[in-house]
Amino acid sequence: MKSFNVYNGGVKLLFGVNRLKELKRFLHGLSNVLIVTGRSSARISGALGGITGLLDELGIGYEHYDRVKPNPDKYVIEEIVETYRGGGFDGFVAIGGGSVIDSAKAARVVVAGGGVIEDYLYRRRSVPEDKPFLLAVNLTHGTGTEIDRFSVVSIPEKREKLGFGAGYPNVSIDDPRYTRTLPRSQTIYTSMDAFAHSVESATSILASPYTELLAGEAIKYIVEYLPKALRNPSNIGYRYWLLYASMIAGISIDHGITHLGHGIEHVLSAINPRLPHGAGLAILYKSLIRIFYKHIPVTLAKILKPLDPSLKPKPEDSEKALKAYLEFLERIGFDENLGTYGFGRDDIGEIVKLYMDHPVYRRYHRLSPFKIDRSMVREVIEEVL
Ligand SMILES: [Fe+2]
Repeated sequence: MKSFNVYNGGVKLLFGVNRLKELKRFLHGLSNVLIVTGRSSARISGALGGITGLLDELGIGYEHYDRVKPNPDKYVIEEIVETYRGGGFDGFVAIGGGSVIDSAKAARVVVAGGGVIEDYLYRRRSVPEDKPFLLAVNLTHGTGTEIDRFSVVSIPEKREKLGFGAGYPNVSIDDPRYTRTLPRSQTIYTSMDAFAHSVESATSILASPYTELLAGEAIKYIVEYLPKALRNPSNIGYRYWLLYASMIAGISIDHGITHLGHGIEHVLSAINPRLPHGAGLAILYKSLIRIFYKHIPVTLAKILKPLDPSLKPKPEDSEKALKAYLEFLERIGFDENLGTYGFGRDDIGEIVKLYMDHPVYRRYHRLSPFKIDRSMVREVIEEVL
């Protein structure tokens, strides 16, 4: 298992086992940092102890904010900003998955640029170049946020969930040791988020041979190693490749962006914040794979080969591709649908309306390589209820 560094945008990412000790040179000069985490995963994974040990050794003070929840909302961001401003800090250390790292990214923008988070989400203010130092210690193999520039924040009262270009962390750590304690459900959800990043970034209007290459590689490793990691969760080799897949899929969305799948998923988890992002995507893809394949068969045949090597680059093979995807879900024991999260037929109208008409979600339409209409979105939801 090789250790290596990746540079993307403004971030330097240290990938591999036991890289924490190399952080010293990046932390020199800091005097007091705000550690941002969720409730327990930072401690359980061992990453929190590793970081605080290092900070103690370097004589850097810290305070610990541990209240980030899944699908973080503007109130969490406001609380982090307030804590930061009141504490005399000169940097952030985010230890967690997508929700934690995204929250720190968003709070750091408000700290640097002033105003409130909505100003940046609705693009009333531009994101400042100079922002406080941010170290991201990633604990899941899904979002890719440790290597990309995006942050996603919900506005609960408006039922909106918006992504924006918040800027890259300064330094990130991807250590597969910290993902071994991911629960079974999160192992599946985060991997399927990376799967969706691959498909969408390889097919959006911004897709390129580069994103196609990254997507094909990421899917290859997810298909091979997710079933193995579920059978043997503490195997560090399996986690290494899942983490590698999610990291390169993160670079892929940084260049190719996401579209239809993420757009609809953001509507769903804005309506029900208890829906994990990756679960929503895995569910939607039970229908979307067919649509993507019909419209973009050449790319899909290429990147989905690990699911079924006999796929031909023709729209007629869309059913075959869907069957291969559903068989993969069966192999990993994923049997959820939207009903699992309380969605029913009564919700279809609101979901379609939000996705098709709301300006926040219309942003995704222009990234799609094919035309999206109401009946398409309705059919997708009906099929996965
Ligand atoms: Fe995602």
